[in-house]
Amino acid sequence: MRVLSGIQPSGSLHLGNYLGMMKPMLAYLDEAELFVFIVNLHALTSVTDAAKLSQQTLEAAADFLALGLDPDRCYFWVQSDVTEVVELAWILTCITPMGLLERCHSYKDKISKGIPANHGLFAYPVLMAADILLYQTDVVPVGKDQKQHLEVTRDIAMRFNHLFGETFTIPEAQISDEVATIPGIDGQKMSKSYDNTIEIFLDEKTLRKKVMSIKTDSTPVEAPKDPETCNLFQIYRHFAPPERTSEVLGLYLEGGAAYGEIKKELSGILWDFFREARDTRERLTNDPSYIHEALRKGAEKARSVALPTIDLVRERVGVKY
Ligand code: ADP
Ligand code: TRP
Repeated sequence: MRVLSGIQPSGSLHLGNYLGMMKPMLAYLDEAELFVFIVNLHALTSVTDAAKLSQQTLEAAADFLALGLDPDRCYFWVQSDVTEVVELAWILTCITPMGLLERCHSYKDKISKGIPANHGLFAYPVLMAADILLYQTDVVPVGKDQKQHLEVTRDIAMRFNHLFGETFTIPEAQISDEVATIPGIDGQKMSKSYDNTIEIFLDEKTLRKKVMSIKTDSTPVEAPKDPETCNLFQIYRHFAPPERTSEVLGLYLEGGAAYGEIKKELSGILWDFFREARDTRERLTNDPSYIHEALRKGAEKARSVALPTIDLVRERVGVKY
């Protein structure tokens, strides 16, 4: 089974990204042929600062490598390094009905917020379809917001196969409903857009400060509390050792859970949990040549998978003569 996921290079990873995306992705390393790439061409639809984009691309790569994405056991590259994807995107564009793209929520939402519509934003789902189809992907794990884009991809693939003959695998979306939404320090979904995140790679003091600021209610220590609605516990339970989580759960249910103490403990747990990744990330950042080399090799490997498909596509549509 071939599993593929594209990741926007959009700033520091937070605990929600780790639990909702990184951890499930790392689990695929042993179970599937895993394709992971940084979608810098998609980022161009909204970023016009070159230095920022190239820096964030390298940072995203460092984050992923540091957290355990072993480039020898998967395909890990930067989207723009396999230029065939842009060729495929154009070919697919030519068979994509306008109406299919005009219906896309993410485009409509941006327009309705007054974000000026460039053609890239409109054509975004076609480039995403090219990403997926170029590698003959079986499964694409995505958040709910990307569900429609996967439907567009399937529509385009079926249309192509119908017009030109069987060429593409029709991919399945894997929508992770079961991945709980991790709350941020204010209790809303943890998200960069809400400014309520706890980043994975913070210095110890800032980490502690952020954890101490997780919003909790004013129930007295002795009183029982509901762990399901407590932001603190909803983060704590993912990182504390299972026996300790059960003990703390007992304190919530029977009384005796002191938020301040649990926060202090959580901040220590998080600091230790990401220690190895943090050290690796620092080493990588000090030696970007390792990152460059991993991405270069990754692009080479990815291209070797892409070439037979693009070659077949050229033949099918008649641009090979
Ligand atoms: P943000 O909302 O901070 O901009 P993104 O939309 O870039 O985050 O999300 C990147 C990935 O992280 C997606 O796969 C998304 O499902 C996951 N993710 C983001 N926030 C959370 C969260 N609070 N809980 C669980 N998963 C999350
Ligand atoms: N559109 C996706 C997002 O915003 C990123 C993406 C681009 C992607 N190409 C992809 C995701 C291919 C999965 C497969 O998160």
